[in-house]
Formats: sequence, structure tokens, C-alpha cells
Amino acid sequence: MTLRVQRHLAGSLLALTVTTACVGAPPPTMVAAIADDNPAATVHPEIWPRADWPYPVDASVETRIDAIIARMTVEEKVGQVIQADIASVTPEDARRYHLGSILNGGNSAPGNDEFAAPEKWLALADAFYDASVDTSGGRTAVPIIWGTDAVHGHSNIVGATIFPHNVGLGAMHDADLVQQIAEATALELRSTGMEWTFAPTITVPQDGRWGRAYEGYSQDPALVASYVERFIEGLQGQPSDRPILSGPHVLASTKHFLADGGTDEGRDQGDARISETELRDIHGTPYVSAINAGVQTIMASFSSWNGAKITGHKGLLTDVLKQRMRFGGFIVSDWNAHGQISGCTNTSCPQAINAGLDMYMAPDTWKPMYESLLAQAKSGIVPMERLEDAVANILRVKIRAGLFEAGRPSSRPFSGRFELLGSADHRALAREAVRKSLVLMKNNKQILPLDPRSHILVAGDGADDIGRASGGWTLTWQGTGIGNDKFPGATSILQGIEDAVSAANGTLRHAPDGSFEKKPDAAIVIFGETPYAEFQGDLKTLQLKPELKGPLATMRKLQAQDIPVVAVFLTGRPLWTNEEINASDAFVTAWLPGSEGGGVADVLFRDKYGKVAHEFTGKLSFSWPMTADAKGPRLFELGYGLNSASRSDLDMLPEDSGVVGQESSAGTFFDKGLPTASWSLLVSDGQSDRTRITTTPAEAIGGRVQIKAVDHLTQEGARQFTSSGNGPTLIELVTHAPIDISRETNGDVLLLVTMRYEQQSSAPIKLSMRCGEGCGGQIAPAALSALEVGTWQTVGVPIKCFAAAGADVSKLDAPFQIATTGPIDFSLSRVALGTVADTILGCE
Ligand code: BGC
Ligand code: BGC
Repeated sequence: MTLRVQRHLAGSLLALTVTTACVGAPPPTMVAAIADDNPAATVHPEIWPRADWPYPVDASVETRIDAIIARMTVEEKVGQVIQADIASVTPEDARRYHLGSILNGGNSAPGNDEFAAPEKWLALADAFYDASVDTSGGRTAVPIIWGTDAVHGHSNIVGATIFPHNVGLGAMHDADLVQQIAEATALELRSTGMEWTFAPTITVPQDGRWGRAYEGYSQDPALVASYVERFIEGLQGQPSDRPILSGPHVLASTKHFLADGGTDEGRDQGDARISETELRDIHGTPYVSAINAGVQTIMASFSSWNGAKITGHKGLLTDVLKQRMRFGGFIVSDWNAHGQISGCTNTSCPQAINAGLDMYMAPDTWKPMYESLLAQAKSGIVPMERLEDAVANILRVKIRAGLFEAGRPSSRPFSGRFELLGSADHRALAREAVRKSLVLMKNNKQILPLDPRSHILVAGDGADDIGRASGGWTLTWQGTGIGNDKFPGATSILQGIEDAVSAANGTLRHAPDGSFEKKPDAAIVIFGETPYAEFQGDLKTLQLKPELKGPLATMRKLQAQDIPVVAVFLTGRPLWTNEEINASDAFVTAWLPGSEGGGVADVLFRDKYGKVAHEFTGKLSFSWPMTADAKGPRLFELGYGLNSASRSDLDMLPEDSGVVGQESSAGTFFDKGLPTASWSLLVSDGQSDRTRITTTPAEAIGGRVQIKAVDHLTQEGARQFTSSGNGPTLIELVTHAPIDISRETNGDVLLLVTMRYEQQSSAPIKLSMRCGEGCGGQIAPAALSALEVGTWQTVGVPIKCFAAAGADVSKLDAPFQIATTGPIDFSLSRVALGTVADTILGCE
């Protein structure tokens, strides 16, 4: 009886009333919410809003769930609450361990091919489905669900429509279009067989330094809330008793609950140090709309509230979300986020399910997680009631989806209709979204819209790069280094400009450096951020990285020649751009527009008859900074945005950044042959004979090792190390301020080493990371010693290899050490953390 009541709890007000009445005691929320050891992270559910979960309890569904659970073994129940990543699990594993769900992380794809054809995705969906419904040996058939980050279109699939990231959608202030985008995304998802997207992100980012700010629509909770219901309705359809998958729909997941965008200093996966009222009113508001719209799943945040990790926070997950707000779907965790809860590891965390989590995203850790959870369920550490409640929540969603009747993914409506991917209709929607998301921030002397019947120069480094215009979470996790050929059917911003100009018989020159022979009538300079995702995009200040400042000089040069300059800024967030605004006559923020770059030209230009075809309508949904200090004064408030009729000219802005120093490229230890700030290059015999290399040529270990400068990319852009004699040689990059790269490790980031062998080495070469005296992890990848001689390449080694070998990645003072006992001759140009390598080595 208790069990049944508990299961209904999340389902409806009716059930809640019944429970309270039945038990005759105050709702458990009151007791459970008190975390005695941390009063600052204690919630008071009664001050939180109620929501209207739109699905009434359905007695026949509950009977059906009971019957399924009654048949399930404890192994099957445990498997049901675990989600594995397709890079680490096979259909056979999923069958054997009864897994309830799979996902493809940002870097995972069928056959490890990020650019796999849609047929491959659908075939893999079938294989997992078949495995999950196998009933041999008395197994209980429960169809598996596949979750994917379709966060701006079906963005893992080559050829899909890539919509602007949410930051751009926020500037549109157009909820109708948002719903249409969600509908289009759902259709594209259905073509490849997935039934679940980890979207929409309904974060309310409060600090532009956060590397995920672009995944949020706005800093204003009201604007975010106004989109949520429409987006969810676009994905899932209107709540009804018709199975969700019977229409052109998929399951949605709002994320990341809660206050992912409220962390201190905008640190990803950080700590929101705010009051309960702020937590509720800023970050909680959109969740009321999400629950009203019947969102089927909610992803718990990696982050903490006042020091307590949300994924293990019973007060927030159970008492507030499920009970007070009546969320009746299931809660999934984020990528190994449970491992960050105090007392947990990536492979064991009863705390999370006991706090109210229903499904563990245990991408590469699913097997040990399954084993530990099974033991905990058997021993009672995880009460059977709670496990069955979690299973019931998942089954309820699967039943609402109609999954038990839907059949194989490839047999379902819209499956295999790959013409839906990047269809003309969807691209037209995306192009409209691009037009509406552009924010015109300056238009002195009303130089916009431009006349396409003129001579146009396109400069800057961002004009012809669709990957860059799309940002992170595009085909790969970080979205870096993807050529235009991987976006069939898409239009770069440059292509859009070319089309507009040639249709009007104007002329165009594209020169990233701004050079020209014939003086242009106007120059469009496209510049800004390069792609990043999650913590890789965190900044210390609101400045563009130094390597992205080049186009500023181009703007100044053009301006000095009396050429009208139109700056187009690609960015995931408002950044300090006073210098660029001063160096241009018109300044347009284009955010991360995606695959339909033609939308930019639509608004920059008049039509070929000289008429204004599309007016600027975008308005800031994030305020714009006056300095690079994230807490500093504002230049433009929310809602700012000009149109071409606006007559007010912008005066010159102060060019003092308000912060000390430049934005650093954190995670780069050695660049262009030199250690970066706070790093030293040491050569030694591994014992006491250590030499710090500052100038070249140099020698170390009593002359046994020679170090000289060689060229790579730039003059003297590398250092060559030569040792002919035998004996131990250790070359390392060290710091006095140890670094913590546990987040990078969890995210499968690589140590990237750009190097060239000058001669083959006879003895094995070892790599290690040191974490202080007597602490470290060493690996000896055979492939490292076997690299081709005479060729520069960037070799990537997963950081997790060093962790597995014993390195404590939370306190590294030498993240790069290369050692051998034989002769060696190689050159080194760069050592950094990242995700793009020519060769990725294994851990052995
Ligand atoms: C991100 C989530 C994402 C998940 C699966 C996590 O690292 O925080 O937003 O849905 O990975 O890729
Ligand atoms: C995955 C992402 C995930 C991230 C977690 C990456 O390896 O591909 O999906 O969000 O790790 O930090």
C-alpha cells in the first residue's frame, strides 16, 4: 500500500492528498527537507510554487506498471534505472544487463564515426531495441529509450538543420517560432529513431563567464518561462492520453535542475551561493512552466546549491520537484554527475537514487554502477520501495510514449525519412530564426541596410566557417574544427552574402585580412568566438581571447581608409566589445546562428530593388557589459536593439577593459616552443640534476641533452631535444600552483602534444602526470614510440589514462612529463588540453 501511494505521489494532487490523508502525518517533505549539517542548503518546500502536472493518474496504467514490476527480477529493476553511452555499451550488454536507456554523448556515434550516415543511427537504434525486448530465458521485455543532445536541431547528425543556439532564440522574443523549431527538431529526431532529447535547456544564466551561457534563452526567468511550454509542446505535443510517439513527437528533458546558470563566478558545475528565494524565483520559475507542459524528464544538474550537489539533494529532487511541484515524469542525472556527490564515486552512489534520482547517466561506468547498485538493492542500502518507485516513474514515461506498442524504431512513423533532415521547410524556419535573432547594436549614419548593388568586402576570420557559426554541441561535443563539407545543404554567412550581392549584380571580395585592390563601398567584418562546450568555455573575464582579437586591427585599418565597417559578432554570450564597437560604423550581434547563415545577409542588405526586405527586430535577452568585469557596469540593458530606422548615433565608448590582463588560454601549458605563464620547462635525469630551460640553445644533464629552437608554424615555434647518450632523461612542464583537471578528465578531454620525431627512438617513451612528491601516473603507449619520423602531429592521450595509472588529477604540478632511458631526438611545439588530435593514443 505504501508503495502504491508513493508511486502516485509524483502523479497528482489527488494522490498527494490521499497520501497525506492516509498516513495522517505531515507530508514527509517537512522532515526530509532539513539537512542538519548544512542549513544554507536546506529547502522549505512549502514556499515553492505548485505546478499543474497535466497527466491525471490512470488506474489502468498503474495496474500495468504493477504487473510489469511484479514480473521483473531485481537485476531487471536495477538495469532499468541505468543509462549507458553507446561508445561504451553494445546491444548485447544492454540485453544482458537489462539497461533501461542509452545515450550518445557529444562525442559518441555509431561505429565511433561522428559523421556516420543517418542509416547507421537508425540501425543501431533497432539493434538496441531488439536487445531490450528479447524475452528469452524468461526476461521481461521493456523497450529501451535513446537520449541525445538535440539542443539546437538534431545537432549530432550530418545534414540536420542546425538552428541558432538558445541565446539567439532568446533575442527573437518569438514563442511561436520557438514552437515550430521544436516541432521540426522532433521530426528530424524521429527520422533516425531516437525518442528522447536532452532539451530544452531552461537554464537562466546570470554570469557570462559561464561556458554554457549560450545554451540559455535569457538571464530573465520570465522570458525563459515564456518559451518553455511552447518548446515542450513542440517536442512532445499537447499533453493527452494519446501516446506521444504516435504523433511527430519525442520526449523532452528540461535541464539542468537547478541553478546551473547561477554558480559562483559562472563556473561550470560550480556552486550557486544564493538564497532559497533566489533559487526559486530566478532558476525555479521555468520549471513550473515545464511541469505544466508535462515535460516527461528532467535532468539534475552537475552543480551545487550552497555546497550541496543537486544530484544528491533530496529536498530539491523529491520534496520540491516531485512532491511540491508535482513533477510526474522521471529524473535523470548528468554525465557521471553522481560521482561528485559527497561520499560517492562514479561507480557507486546509492545517495543519488535515495535522494530521488530515477535514472543514472553512467555513460562509461554503467557496469560497475549496475553491480554496486544491485548489491545495495539486495542489502537494503537502497530500499526496494525506492528502486521500484524509480522503475515505475520510468515505465510510466515509456507507457505515455507508447513505447511498448511502437515496435522497432525503423518501423515507426517518420523513421527512415531522411529527407526530413535539413528539409527545405526546416531550413527556412532556421533562416527566419537567424534573421530574427540578430541584434543591431550600433548603426551610425544609418549605414545599414547595405545596398547589394555595390562593391562589398567581406573580411574577418569567421565568414566562411559553418562549424564556427554553429558553436559547441554540433556534430561533436566541443564543435571544434569541423569543415564546411560536413554540413551538406547548409549556407555559410559568406555564401549568403554572395547570393545577395550577386542577385543584385553587385560585386564581392572575400579576404579575411581585409586586403583589397578595388576600394569597397562597405566592408563586413565577421569575427568572434570559436566553438566550445561546457567547462571548456568558461572565462575569467568577459574578454575575447587574445587570438580572436585579430579582426579588430582589420576594422581599424578599414575605418582609417574611410570605408564603412559593419561588424558581425559571432558569440555565445555578451562580451566586452567596446573596441570593436568603436572600430565599426554598424555592429550586429549574430550569436551562434547555425547552418542557415543566409539569414544574416537577409537583414544586412536591402533587396535588389533597394527595398528593406527584412527589418532588424532582435532585442537583447542578456544585458551587455560596459567593461570586461562580469560584475561591472552595463552598456546595453535587456531589450536593447535598434532597427534600421533608429536615428541615434552611438558615441565613442571608453576602451578601458576594467580588468587587469588579458583572458588567458587556460589549459595551454606550452605554446610556440615556450612555456606559458606560470609554467616552467625542466630537463633532468629524473633525480637532482634539473635544468630550467629559458633561452636556447641550452644543455642539461652535464651536456647529455641539447635543446635548440626550431621552426614550426612560426619562426622558432618549437624546441628540439636531442640526447644521444644512454641514461634517464625527463622533460617536463611544471608549476608551483597545482591545477585541478578532474572536470576535464570526466569529460574525456585529451592531453594534446604537438610534436615531431627527428629520429626513431630505440628505447620506449613514457608519459606521465605528477601530482606532487611521490604521486603520479605513468603510461607507455606503444603507439607513441611508433609515430612516424619527420612529421609534425598532434597526439592526444585521454587524461583518464593517467588517472587510471594513479595520478590524482585534482592536484597536478606536472601534467606533462616525457621520459626515456635511451637516446632521443624530438621537437615539441605545444602541450595543451583539448579534444582535437591527429592521433589518439590508448592507455596501455
Ligand atoms: C551535459 C548535459 C548533456 C549530457 C549528455 C553532460 O555533460 O552537461 O547537458 O545532456 O552530458 O551529453
Ligand atoms: C561527452 C559529452 C559529455 C561530457 C561530460 C563528453 O565526453 O561526449 O556528452 O557532456 O563528456 O563532461
